[in-house]
Amino acid sequence: MSQSFDFGPLIPAGSPPPAVRWTGLAKYNFTGGNNDADEVPVDDLIAAATASLKREGRNLATYNVAHGPQGYRPLREFLVTKLKGDAGIACSADDILMLSGSSQALDLVNAALLTRGDTVICEKDNYQSTLTRFARIGAKVVGIPLDKDGMRMDALAAALADCKSRGVQPKMIYTIPTVQNPTATILPEPRRAELLRLSEQYGVAVFEDDCYSDLIWDGRRPPALYAMSEAQNVIHIGSFSKSIAPALRVGFLVAPWPILSRMLPLKTDAGSGSVEQMMLAEYCVPHFATHLPALRKALRAKVETLMEALNEQFGTAAEFEDPKGGIFLWVKLPDNVDTMKLYQAALKEGVAINPGNEWSTDKAHSASRLRICFASPTHAQIREGVAILADVCRREFGVPARSGNVERRVS
Ligand SMILES: Cc1ncc(COP(=O)(O)O)c(C=O)c1O
Repeated sequence: MSQSFDFGPLIPAGSPPPAVRWTGLAKYNFTGGNNDADEVPVDDLIAAATASLKREGRNLATYNVAHGPQGYRPLREFLVTKLKGDAGIACSADDILMLSGSSQALDLVNAALLTRGDTVICEKDNYQSTLTRFARIGAKVVGIPLDKDGMRMDALAAALADCKSRGVQPKMIYTIPTVQNPTATILPEPRRAELLRLSEQYGVAVFEDDCYSDLIWDGRRPPALYAMSEAQNVIHIGSFSKSIAPALRVGFLVAPWPILSRMLPLKTDAGSGSVEQMMLAEYCVPHFATHLPALRKALRAKVETLMEALNEQFGTAAEFEDPKGGIFLWVKLPDNVDTMKLYQAALKEGVAINPGNEWSTDKAHSASRLRICFASPTHAQIREGVAILADVCRREFGVPARSGNVERRVS
């Protein structure tokens, strides 16, 4: 057999480490941002795909079905109405760029604004992929602590003043203000106004990542930073991953033309998939508004099962806030629990969790925390998975000292 070619010497310095081969999902999967399988509106999506393909399928012969590099226009027009209605954003279809998931927005905004050594400000506990991206670019990250109402404005003001005193001009404040990942906090309107005031005072751009904003239980959300900003220094991103399904890979970005026009040349994929966009536009206009309440209800029921299971199995050892929306619970365990080790031990028993250290700029603060996605496991899997997690945690760390007297049927 011939020796395989060694690509190693060709890989540029500073490339990410090699990927680990995917070995399948854990039996009890509490990781990732996956959604509730029962709530994917499959029949209506089939009907929407069929109708749109029958009507416009031949347009697939042209890149972007001839709607241009910003994506399928009827979907952008749906978003114009939706964003006005629930986030207060006044924009036109020309201000919207359709993307392959809002992940692509993270890459585009970073590519447009950041270079090695730049400073960015963000919530201390944060979306792992955002933190990884900042690290790869070589950005300096200033993490701002959160309380139960999200990013603390006194700490943001102090961080901005500190940067200024050191002669550092931060490029942007990246924030997930509406159902934050991982804390599920919602930044109230007065804090939003203060964040914008500070951003203007210090001449910093704001990057608003709003992908969970459709998942607030009572459907009421504060206006988007984008809507409140007078300085037009905000870039807003959103996604259909959390409201419909992540495997669709459809997200979007809203931005003023001076910065949108700098990001478009960086989107070098010749357009995001048009079939998904056509199907979504067809589906969303008649169905989106009625789909959401059903999804929120299902997610709320799941988090109730999770909180109940944690209370039964961990008792006071697991601390968390009852979230107002979303798909995650950010849980604090006693200080002696290292959730990275807990993650490794639990995985061997078929339970996957996200260890806190991967979701925070502050390793000491996050080492005993974990993020639990409750959307994709079933109610039975939530109960069984949490029971196993408590057993593993007790074996490894001696906590919880004892669990509630609950019957377990772990197959
Ligand atoms: C805060 C945040 N931003 C962006 C994304 C990217 O999502 P997608 O690319 O599926 O739209 C996620 C996914 O979990 C997220 O949690």
